[in-house]
Formats: sequence, structure tokens, C-alpha cells
Amino acid sequence: METAEEIRQNANYDESKVPAYTLPDPLLLPEGHPVTDAATWFEKARPATYLLFETLMYGRTPDKNIPIRAEVLRTNPQALGGKATTLQTRLYLGERSDTYMDLLTFLPNGASGPVPLFLGLSFSGNHTVSHEPDVPVTESWVRDLPDLGQVNHRATEATRGIGTENWQAELLVERGYGLTTIYYGDIDPDFDDGFQNGIHPLFYAEGQTRPGPGEWGSIGAWAWGLSRALDYLETLPAVDAKKVAVIGHSRLGKTALWAAAQDQRFALAISNNSGSGGAAIGRRMFGETYAHLNTAFPHWFSQTFHAYSYREADLPFDQHQLLALVAPRPLYVASASEDLWADPYGEYLATEHVRPVYNLLAGEDAAKRIGYHKRPGGHDINRYDWERYLDFADANLR
Ligand code: GCU
Repeated sequence: METAEEIRQNANYDESKVPAYTLPDPLLLPEGHPVTDAATWFEKARPATYLLFETLMYGRTPDKNIPIRAEVLRTNPQALGGKATTLQTRLYLGERSDTYMDLLTFLPNGASGPVPLFLGLSFSGNHTVSHEPDVPVTESWVRDLPDLGQVNHRATEATRGIGTENWQAELLVERGYGLTTIYYGDIDPDFDDGFQNGIHPLFYAEGQTRPGPGEWGSIGAWAWGLSRALDYLETLPAVDAKKVAVIGHSRLGKTALWAAAQDQRFALAISNNSGSGGAAIGRRMFGETYAHLNTAFPHWFSQTFHAYSYREADLPFDQHQLLALVAPRPLYVASASEDLWADPYGEYLATEHVRPVYNLLAGEDAAKRIGYHKRPGGHDINRYDWERYLDFADANLR
């Protein structure tokens, strides 16, 4: 068995070595009939497509309802130099006081009514999203950042505001949007511990010690957290919960797409540099492959997905069909020119191959509802990306 590092070293970046492939037609029913109307899409094709992704890739989310309680911890009507009001809310997940996720919400001051809002998970904690001093440093497990003195998986004050460029809270509120972020490690710490920490155990049946083979991994859990955040946002009068865009970068871009596929209340979905297992066409095997995903991050997808390492073309679907699960809602996919690991061209192709579904479901609006850009530069999310997302949201949600 190759190690993750060996797989990475052997990654293909040569377009001429992309294997020949045929993509499954998203508008063909399993029994081979073409879908020619929206009703058939929603009644048959969409559920069938969804079932394939659930069964073979991201895993099934248990349908058990667990008790959730919201507590507002802090508010600040003068955040971002007076431009925003912040709301810090703890959502207790289940009965225990040590299992929770903290939501940091920025709302533009002076809005004339409920605002549309971007919701996304962060890599490093709510305290990294801006320099606001009243956001406590996360107490959850974090990745070590030795350059910043962050060791032993404990966050420190030194990381406050390091994600300011990635989140652009000020730009968002200036443009009339709200923003809610959650630290993804609150939901499930991002390492393979056999699903003992995080929220998975809340869903175990008597005697169960890890998710079943077709059940969710960490991406499924993170996506579940996004839906629970949306439940909460629906209770806030200042938020227009029918206009919540779910956004994520990289592994959290994969998560945002799966969240939007699962939960059709999300009004718009944005995948920033989501790459393999996100927006990129898997059959191209360009950059990161499924073998790498399953070896380096065995906890992200369902166990059933592990059977598809080196076998991208044997899956009965490809990632343009994940995008089809977002249709007809507005969808934005973004790549970065130097981010070859995430296969920018494969991400672009997925947005092209999902067009027939949008044409069927959205008619004249189809073109407007699919956004794509390739930013010059590397794997990242920054102001340039957000400006495009805000323009797209203006065009589709306003
Ligand atoms: C790794 C991983 C990618 C992932 C990325 C990230 O590069 O291989 O699949 O998208 O990390 O989340 O930054």
C-alpha cells in the first residue's frame, strides 16, 4: 500500500495523461430514461442521485433528533468600528455541557430589514475571523501552528485575527450581508480517532462504537452542524433565513457542497478551491485522487468510499452530479490558478457539465445561477474571491 505522501508525490499534473473517461449523464434515470421535466427531476432523478452520494461517498447522516439548546453568550452593538453588531451564541448539542458549537454572527448596523447572510465553517476558530477582542480563543482541539507558538493542540491569543483576510467580515457588512462562522473542530476535531470525540457518539445506538460502513464521517458531521446553525438562524428576526449562502474553502468547500445537497433550505452554495471530493471531476485523476483522500484523511468520507481508491471511474456518478444536487439554487465554484492539487480545470468542467440540469430547472435564469472564477495565485480564499461572491449574491439573492 502506498503512503499518502507517496500518492501525493505521484500525482499527475499533466493534462495529456488524464485518462479518457465518460461522465455519467446527470439527466438520465437509473433505468435509462431521460429526465425532461422538473417534476421528474425532483421526484426521481434527484433522490436517486442523492442516494448514490450518500451511500458511496459522504455516508448517511443518522436521522436521530438530538436536543439542542441555544444560549447567547455575548453581544456587541459596536463591533468592527461600529459597522456591525456581533452575537456570540453557544449551541449545546445533546445533553452534555461539554459538547457545543459556538456561532459568531456579524450583522450590519443600520439595515432596513432582515439581511441575507453567509454561513461558513472556519479552520482555526471564531477568534481568528476578525480582531474583535471579545471573542474568546477557542478551547477546542486545534491544529498546531508552531510558527505562531500554537502547540499541543491548544489555541492561543497569538492567532486572533489571522483569518481576517479569509473572511472579510467588514466588506460583508458594508455590502449589507451578515456572516456567521463556526469553528469546525467544535463539531468534530479533524483527525482520525475512530469517531470517539466530536458529535458522532451522540448518534450511536446502544453498544455502537463508530459509524456503520455506509454512515457519515467528518464531512457529514460538519455539514450537519451547518444545518443546525441554519435552524438557529431561522429564529433570528434580523436574518433573512431564506437567503443564507453556505460557503467553505477546501475541505470545508467539500463540506459546503454536501451541506447544500442535503439541506435545500440553503439558498446559495459556494465552493472555494474544494478540489477532489468537492467540485473537481474525479475521473480526471488530476492532482489529488480518491486514494489520497482515503489514505491521508480516512475519517472524512464513509467507509464505503474507501473501496473507490484508484477506482474513480467505477463510481456510478461524478462530482458534476454533486453540483446538480444544488440546482436550481445559485451555485458558485472558484479555483485558483496555482492550486493544481485541487484541479482547477476539473472544477471548471463540473460547472459546465451541470448546465443541462440548470437549463432544465431554471430556464432563462440558468446562466446567472452558475458562477465560476479562477483567481490568479494559490490555494486560499481572500478579498478577491469574496468580491466575486458578493456580486453573485447581489445578482441572485437581492
Ligand atoms: C489537503 C487535502 C485537500 C483539502 C485541503 C484543505 O490539501 O488533500 O483535499 O481540500 O487539504 O482542506 O486545505
